[in-house]
This record gives sequence, structure tokens and C-alpha cells, in this order.
Amino acid sequence: MINPRPADSLDKGAGASAPAVYRVRNLRKTFARHSVTALENTSFDLPRGSFTAVIGASGCGKSTLLKIMAGLVSPSEGSVMLAGKPVLGTRSDIGMMFQHAVLLPWKTTIENILMPIEIQRGKSAAKAKRADAEALMDLVGLKGFEDAYPSGGMQQRASICRMLITEPEILLLDEPFSALDELVREHMNMELQRICLARQATAFLITHSIPEAVLLSDTIFVMGSRPGRILEEVKIDLPRPRTLDMMLEPRFAELVAYIRNRLDLGVNHGN
Ligand SMILES: Nc1ncnc2c1ncn2[C@@H]1O[C@H](COP(=O)(O)OP(=O)(O)O)[C@@H](O)[C@H]1O
Ligand SMILES: [Mg+2]
Repeated sequence: MINPRPADSLDKGAGASAPAVYRVRNLRKTFARHSVTALENTSFDLPRGSFTAVIGASGCGKSTLLKIMAGLVSPSEGSVMLAGKPVLGTRSDIGMMFQHAVLLPWKTTIENILMPIEIQRGKSAAKAKRADAEALMDLVGLKGFEDAYPSGGMQQRASICRMLITEPEILLLDEPFSALDELVREHMNMELQRICLARQATAFLITHSIPEAVLLSDTIFVMGSRPGRILEEVKIDLPRPRTLDMMLEPRFAELVAYIRNRLDLGVNHGN
């Protein structure tokens, strides 16, 4: 762990002294069919309002970990508690976002985005949220496509809007921005931070982008492969709110270089 926060900044750090929302204990996951140990010896707490990113080579078990946290996959051993209860099945307080978006092709783009609101709170609530949906669409470059049916290139951006519209308290994000171009991606990063701060949301983001992880996180989990496990938890001591300008600061570059180095070690150990 490098440069831990000084003790007097703990209270200001997002969720640093808050109670844990997630308690993950001794997870192990083996896929019997291929006798692969996807995850081993994995334990951590996520304080309320904290932002954690996970970075690691392909196949090291990141998505498996996230699916276990979502209650979509059961672990071979260990437990996941969310707000004091075991996670089971899907819950409406968890917003999830995967790399490949699934939208309803017979609904327009904005109808898809408003769908979770309509399901949770009804048609008139969805109507009332239309302006918010339009603002999100503008942000991801979908302005003007409200009433179009979602086509290939629009799906990912629309599904990001669909997740953010509910402003969920828990965000489990599996490489949601990897298909976006850099400028849109940076806007989405800032929007994600805004929503997390406004809602005191707890976020868990899998990403392949080290700068994205450093920009957004309080803590970065560096994962190693075979078996998948957390090699190191790196605290990011940049002040909040983060701004895109911070990416130009020497401290930012230092943190990026540090993580890159840790990741190389992880890959080498895994081979
Ligand atoms: N449903 C499954 N059945 C068998 N093996 C799986 C399954 N899901 C994942 N794996 C294996 O578990 C390991 C971790 O996969 P995954 O969690 O998807 O990694 P990552 O998201 O880090 O790329 C890989 O070796 C993968 O092949
Ligand atoms: Mg994955």
C-alpha cells in the first residue's frame, strides 16, 4: 500500500470511516467443468460512499467477483453481505452495468432508458423523468436519437443512461465504458462521480484503464491470475471532487505508473 491517507483526512475521504455496505469474506469460486479456480481467498469491506476500481489481466476473475457480489453467481465458499443481508438474486437497490448492453429492440431509445423508472414507479414517474433522460442522452452524444430504435452503436451509451437514471445506491460496473471514445468516456467518468457523490453511492468498477481507475477511485484492487485474487489495495489520495485537470498533475502520473508496475508483477506471477 502506498501513501496511505494521513489520519486527519480519513473523515473527509469518501466513506473512509463509514460503516461497510458490502462485507465480502473468504470467497472462492471453482468452475468444476473446467476445474478452474477463478477466485480464491478474497475478502474486503466496501464502506458506504466509497469508490473502488478493480484492475487485472483478462481472465483473472474480475467478472466472476462482480457477479458473486451481484448475487448472480454463487461462490463455492465464502459469503457476501450487503447492508447486513446475504445477496441473493437481483435487487432493485443495485445498479448493474455490463460490457455488452441488452436493450429492448421494440422500444425507442428513451423508452429503454426510462424503463427501470417505469417498472419501479410507474408510467407517470417515467414521464416526469424524461428531461433527466434527455440530459443524460446529451451527455453521451445521443441527443436527437430519443425516438429512434437503439442500433448497435447506441446500445452501450443508452444502457449507461438507463443505469444512471435510477441513481442507484450500489453500482456494480463491469467495464461499462470500454467501447466509448475517450472524450465521451471522460464525460461519463465525471457524471458517474457526480452521481456517486450526490447519492453517497458505493461503486465497484472493473476497468482496463488505469487512468480511469485512478481518476475515480478511493481504492484500487490490483488482481492477479491463477487463481484470481487481490494482490494489493492501493489507496488513491487525490482530493475530491476529482477533475479532468488532475490527470495532468505529477501525482496522478505517479499513481498510474505505480499501478502499472504492480499489474506487471501480477501478470508475471500468474504465468
Ligand atoms: N461459467 C463459467 N464456466 C467455466 N469457467 C468460467 C466461467 N466463467 C468464468 N470462467 C473462467 O474463470 C476465469 C475468470 O473469468 P472472469 O471472471 O470472466 O475473468 P475476467 O473478468 O477477469 O476477465 C477464467 O479462466 C474463465 O475462463
Ligand atoms: Mg470480465
